[in-house]
Amino acid sequence: MLLITGAAGQLGTAVIQHLLTKMPAQQIAGLVRDEQKARALRDQGIDIRVGDYDDPASLDRAMQGIDRVLLIAGTDEHKRVQQHQNVVDAAQRAGVGCLAYTSRDLKDRDSLANRLMVGHFQTEDLIKASGLNYILFRNILYMDFIANVVGEQAFETGIQLPTGQGRVAFALRSELGEGMANALIDSDGENRTYHFTGSQAFSFADVASTLTELSGRDVTYTAVEPEAFERQLTEKGMPDFLAQRITGFLTDIKQGQEDHVRPDLEHFLGRTPASLKDGLKVLFEPFIAAG
Ligand SMILES: NC(=O)c1ccc[n+]([C@@H]2O[C@H](COP(=O)([O-])OP(=O)(O)OC[C@H]3O[C@@H](n4cnc5c(N)ncnc54)[C@H](OP(=O)(O)O)[C@@H]3O)[C@@H](O)[C@H]2O)c1
Repeated sequence: MLLITGAAGQLGTAVIQHLLTKMPAQQIAGLVRDEQKARALRDQGIDIRVGDYDDPASLDRAMQGIDRVLLIAGTDEHKRVQQHQNVVDAAQRAGVGCLAYTSRDLKDRDSLANRLMVGHFQTEDLIKASGLNYILFRNILYMDFIANVVGEQAFETGIQLPTGQGRVAFALRSELGEGMANALIDSDGENRTYHFTGSQAFSFADVASTLTELSGRDVTYTAVEPEAFERQLTEKGMPDFLAQRITGFLTDIKQGQEDHVRPDLEHFLGRTPASLKDGLKVLFEPFIAAG
């Protein structure tokens, strides 16, 4: 039985929907915090288990009869390393044969401006130290994130970000989920680290020109200095810690932490991952259509 944590979340849902096309629902379990969110999964025959990364006893119950676990990274960046340790400990107590983890494909942990991302590397370390067999999915930044950070406003005011000419090999979250599902199915039990990226890296200037091409409206890109960007956020009332975190995150893009292209996702999809143009066409469909 394969347990997917974060089963009601976006990545967990994508993984499960692809697993369901290739294996029986009876072999899939999903960990959720809130059973109400899991109705659709239960209707599809998924074995729903309720648990919280903060609650080791609930994790012990959830791991009963489980031989493989996909740990979807927790969203509480300040305490998720301990949460992940709790999941790894429970997996060890349950005698799980393989633990997979959704890490991030960042180049250099020591020079990260967004220090909260170091938690992914620390989680990789603790998984390796546990002695469990593992699969590490080093996922690139979701292409979907572009819609969050840029949004409809891009068509009115253009894009102003502290990302310089930094590029990212964006991949759609749905394709990351599909690639992970296929890799879990194909797993030979060996310890593996996969780097899941798109097939080309793009800057936010490329995002702007692609949105211009798709919409017929003029979308510009202006590179802003990180300090000025952070100041703008705090002047709009954003708490300092959050402004710093967002600016650090975007500075890491400027510094090329995510500009590498690797073949692993293409291999597990069996096709080239969606291009920037194809992805943006889907992600910005309502805005493009309105234009
Ligand atoms: N590659 C990227 O670009 C990128 C971008 C953003 C985030 N991420 C990472 O990837 C992860 C998955 O992304 P996503 O898009 O699926 O996010 P999401 O939709 O917010 O899903 C996160 C899932 O984690 C579960 N979770 C959080 N804290 C938990 C806890 N204490 N105990 C049990 N479950 C917990 C949530 O459960 P509930 O449904 O109960 O809330 C949810 O199902 C995120 O958590 C984040 O670490 C990656």
